[in-house]
Amino acid sequence: MRQNILVTGAAGFIGSHTVDQLLATGHTVWGVDNFRTGKRENLSGAFSNTAFSFEELDVAEDQALSDFVERIRPAAIIHLAALVSVPESIRNPALNQRLNFDATRVIADACRRYQVQRVVFASSAAVYGNPVETPTTENAAKTPLSPYGEAKLASEDLLLAEARQHGYVARCNRYFNVYGPRQDPKSPYSGVISIFMDHLSRGTAPTIFGDGKQTRDFISVHDVARANVIAATAESLPSGVVNICTGASVTINDVWYILCRAEGTLYSPNYAPAREGDIRHSCGSSQQARREIDFVARVPISEGLTALSKRSPASPANTSVL
Ligand code: UD1
Repeated sequence: MRQNILVTGAAGFIGSHTVDQLLATGHTVWGVDNFRTGKRENLSGAFSNTAFSFEELDVAEDQALSDFVERIRPAAIIHLAALVSVPESIRNPALNQRLNFDATRVIADACRRYQVQRVVFASSAAVYGNPVETPTTENAAKTPLSPYGEAKLASEDLLLAEARQHGYVARCNRYFNVYGPRQDPKSPYSGVISIFMDHLSRGTAPTIFGDGKQTRDFISVHDVARANVIAATAESLPSGVVNICTGASVTINDVWYILCRAEGTLYSPNYAPAREGDIRHSCGSSQQARREIDFVARVPISEGLTALSKRSPASPANTSVL
């Protein structure tokens, strides 16, 4: 069924892919973003679609968001606007509080006031902190190690409680390590895959922190966007929380070598001491997502990395061959 859906953080990495998939599946989409980290060019495809409308606003500005929701009356809100950098949340906890918690309160208030039937929230594996069990299930201990993880956990609790009290549905998607086109490589704390792609495009060697044998459950942004669309639009879902992961993990060394192979090149990486607080192994259990929202990741890491490499400007310039 065609629905009217509001996406916050629409110009961001995950937001813009979510908008694209909603449009591709026939929904009418409103996007909002304040362009703090989102980019207008991420929405270039969406802007050419008449089913897409956009408003530049800051979600944490209660009145602006509330007025907008009153005007458009969406069936669902996919709330992706956030302070996305964990290190920045540590440096600036007040900003983290405003963007990663107060903004959730604004969204919850708007859902209650304007009878929005469903809210989908961008949560994170950061709620688990250093996982004591892998694959990590949704019931595992939650000991966030940063203001970012704390705010994500508190936001989940807020939305689930509000949804229960006011009769709507809250779906919290806990993303593991997301990668794909439009991910910004410019900070040292950007996703490792975007940083590696950037090195390949410039022909420079990346730095691997530690021995490179640490593992992550990398999930393609195309799968993450699909999980958001399912959570927002599938019929008769109850409220709940699911990991959005593949259930498999790969070492950082392997990520580099798969990318090199896809590019037909090989640079030896530099190695530097492990980052302080770096998690050794991260892998999510994907069972609850399969059971609750019928979501299974479709893009294996080797395929996702190869597709990313084919899109990159690095490919034609390759000289050295494996
Ligand atoms: C992710 C978050 C991070 C947060 C952590 C909490 C992302 C992009 N980052 O970190 O902000 O603190 O979860 O659970 O989601 N690496 C290199 N070389 C690089 C960059 C990274 O070797 O140039 C290594 C890192 O040390 C790490 C691995 O690659 O071992 C993955 O790094 P990253 O993509 O930053 O993700 P997380 O460490 O999982």
